[in-house]
Amino acid sequence: MEWVTTRLRLDALRESDADVLFQYRADPSVARYQGWCPATREDALDFIRSQRDASIDTRDSWFQRAIRLSSDNALIGDLGVHVPAHPEDSYEFGITVAPSHQGKGLAREAVQALFDVLFGSLGAHRVHASIDPRNLASAALLRSLGMRQEAHFRESLKVRGEWVDDVIFALLAREWPAANMHG
Ligand SMILES: CC(C)(COP(=O)(O)OP(=O)(O)OC[C@H]1O[C@@H](n2cnc3c(N)ncnc32)[C@H](O)[C@@H]1OP(=O)(O)O)[C@@H](O)C(=O)NCCC(=O)NCCS
Repeated sequence: MEWVTTRLRLDALRESDADVLFQYRADPSVARYQGWCPATREDALDFIRSQRDASIDTRDSWFQRAIRLSSDNALIGDLGVHVPAHPEDSYEFGITVAPSHQGKGLAREAVQALFDVLFGSLGAHRVHASIDPRNLASAALLRSLGMRQEAHFRESLKVRGEWVDDVIFALLAREWPAANMHG
């Protein structure tokens, strides 16, 4: 399954992506607020291999897509969506863009494609994202997509030995066409 936007192609991660994936995922500025950070290139490869049989139709699972520039197919990030156990439940997503490609509206473009699929063919009712409130770039991205902050849980997660806050942003299907028109 491949999703295409003006500048991007979203498709499956390949084993040949391991070096680039490791490079940007292990970058401290990228890993700072993420739950998962590869310690080695092998970790990146294992992550890619763990997605070999992944499908967006598999309930209660994470489905990961590579984000590539359509101009030269270069891997510039990745995007994961959690498909809920029950079709009526909320879909969760997370996105990562390599530092050299941030700030160009590419993350927004990738998530717009994801929302078109989730709210379109998959018939999702609600989509949410969970972020560390100190992750300002992430909060700005989610707001720019029309998402609304719905909750702020204090020190509800322990990440690498540190208690951190968890902020939830969400969007409903009926809000997406309107939010999308401003994009
Ligand atoms: C979060 C992340 C994907 C954003 O990527 P990006 O390429 O900078 O996002 P875009 O260029 O598409 O920008 C989207 C919006 O966010 C804003 N934005 C992006 N970075 C920002 C920053 N550091 N400060 C303020 N606003 C920022 C942009 O201005 C834009 O808003 P606009 O449409 O109103 O102009 C990127 O910073 C990243 O990969 N961070 C590390 C991984 C991570 O923490 N992911 C968790 C996400 S759920």
